[in-house]
Amino acid sequence: MEILKVENLYKSFTGADDVVTGVSFEINEGEVVAVIGPSGSGKSTLLRCLTLLEKVDRGSIFVAGQPMVTTSPSGRVVYAPEAELRKIRLQLGMVFQNFNLFPHFSVLRNITEAPVRVAGMTPEEAETIARQLLAKIGLSEKANAYPYQLSGGQSQRVAIARALAMKPAILFFDEPTSALDPELTGEVLKVIRNLAAERMTMMVVTHEMRFARDVADRVLFMDHGQIIEEGPPEIVLDAPTNERTRAFLSNFNANGY
Ligand SMILES: Nc1ncnc2c1ncn2[C@@H]1O[C@H](COP(=O)(O)OP(=O)(O)O)[C@@H](O)[C@H]1O
Ligand SMILES: [Mg+2]
Repeated sequence: MEILKVENLYKSFTGADDVVTGVSFEINEGEVVAVIGPSGSGKSTLLRCLTLLEKVDRGSIFVAGQPMVTTSPSGRVVYAPEAELRKIRLQLGMVFQNFNLFPHFSVLRNITEAPVRVAGMTPEEAETIARQLLAKIGLSEKANAYPYQLSGGQSQRVAIARALAMKPAILFFDEPTSALDPELTGEVLKVIRNLAAERMTMMVVTHEMRFARDVADRVLFMDHGQIIEEGPPEIVLDAPTNERTRAFLSNFNANGY
């Protein structure tokens, strides 16, 4: 089943050049899609449009078949009514580069807050789920800690647990390891690898080429607001056909990693 369908998406900001310029792709249930591309190519803006943090200028987005936003042939952009958007938003999980944990909440409360306040779970149910997720990411002993007491890697694992607690249909990651010291990236990538093994549907913007190679079913290369090349990692990362993909990958080491 198609979890995400994106058609001809455009987004610009006043005073800036067009940032996303005609992006179309689909993600099927259980698929892991990695997005690579140079800084400024529009990757974060695309993710923010997909997760309702930015409004698109035109184009269509469908989540599990439901229209989130559509654009008429005359160019009129129509978002789903607020009640529908609220349901759709619940299906979209996001993990940010800088974790964005609530600093004044404990680890446990960071995870239970949205399930209780937004999804209407009982506090007991939310806590049970939160503790299961903490066990899964190996942080049970940190349930009562506060974000300032965590390493970056631990913070990001909590941020992933927080997103998972909402049981999203798709989880988006925007460079989840870019803010981490190199020795801490492994523990975060391992959590994402385990989710991939469980067939969690994910779209991951990353500069970790080896991770993309191992975990992604498909790689999208973005440049100047467009998807320039798309395909299995063996092709896009190891034998790219597009000159711009080749030039980008040459910034990594000799094997493209
Ligand atoms: N809120 C904004 N206002 C103005 N320009 C923005 C805004 N967000 C992003 N941009 C611009 O859009 C371009 C693409 O940014 P971004 O989506 O963050 O790219 P990437 O994530 O690939 O590095 C950049 O030139 C950036 O300065
Ligand atoms: Mg970015």
